[in-house]
Amino acid sequence: MTVPAAPLPAIAGLIRALPAVKSSEGEPWLRGDRGRRAAFYGRGSAALAVAASVLRENAAGGWKLWVPEYFCGDALAPARRLGIPLSFYPVKEDLSPDFPEDLAGPGALLLVHYFGFPNAAAAAGAACRRAGLTLIEDAAHVLIPCDGIGSSDWAIYSPRKLLALPSGGLLILPEKAVSQLPAAEPPEAGESARWALRRLTQSALRVARIPWHGGRSVPAAADGSDPAVRACSVYALSLLKQAEIGFGEVARRRRENFYRVASWIGHVRDARPLHHDLPDAVCPYAYPLRVPDAERFVGALRASGVPAYRWPDLPPEAGGPVARRLAAEMVLLPVHQSLLPRELERMRVALLEAGRA
Ligand SMILES: Cc1ncc(COP(=O)(O)O)c(C=O)c1O
Repeated sequence: MTVPAAPLPAIAGLIRALPAVKSSEGEPWLRGDRGRRAAFYGRGSAALAVAASVLRENAAGGWKLWVPEYFCGDALAPARRLGIPLSFYPVKEDLSPDFPEDLAGPGALLLVHYFGFPNAAAAAGAACRRAGLTLIEDAAHVLIPCDGIGSSDWAIYSPRKLLALPSGGLLILPEKAVSQLPAAEPPEAGESARWALRRLTQSALRVARIPWHGGRSVPAAADGSDPAVRACSVYALSLLKQAEIGFGEVARRRRENFYRVASWIGHVRDARPLHHDLPDAVCPYAYPLRVPDAERFVGALRASGVPAYRWPDLPPEAGGPVARRLAAEMVLLPVHQSLLPRELERMRVALLEAGRA
């Protein structure tokens, strides 16, 4: 059995979204706030690159973006392509920021709400005010704003990470900055069709109970000429608009799966959960846990068809001991809304076995 790594779309939904519908203009993320606007891109990392380039344009020389050392290196590729200068700050073992003495503007500070959990926004806001920095909330793992997430002027989201979508990243920005948004390149040709074909194939294999995790996954081509900022496809926007009505159900299922996984972790040898509580409004992106050797643990799970993963590719400049330890020990387990009871059971058995091995 292969447990799907991402939510799978229903055929009816894919067809219903074919006639493009008017987007909600980001209403679920803005919640009626007329002082801010939403701009859609293909990916959250493109939204981040745009935020940084607009803020840098408005500032004096020496502007830079402060990024936590525990960060997926790949997510910085568009910002690097736009030539955004980066600095890295350490994080603590609980992933909250460990602000350095030399934290200073001009620049912006990226605060990551890892795996959908609120992360020290009040402390980060105070540190930014002291240092003369603009706070950007990285809510790429967050479905929609909740207590402690998403009240800043600048934030990014990545609905494509939590929903069955071919693409979709979101930038929340002050209304007065909208006129400065750079033009985005069109979406990659055939992106939505390739995504739909891949997901429908996975759905068919799942129904037929044919595993598909044995093959080697093809890494996305790292093409240096790829544009940094692509627009979100009209089809993805249409799917997203259609998905909005089901956000409550997505959160409910993810929370239920999170609790189920949490109930097994005490039986997995040497596994430590990152979070002991799931705050009321949180829609978790994944179940994070720490083990002594994440590479071995993830390898064992993946060999059993369970798509656990980790962040092995920290940015090369990010050398802090805590970030390195987190990268070596953190494992992320899927809790997404498409998981079936038998797939959860496969995860439970595979986890217990990986802990024993
Ligand atoms: C914390 C964080 N921020 C931003 C991103 C970028 O989102 P996207 O994959 O939509 O570009 C990622 C993706 O890996 C991420 O993990």
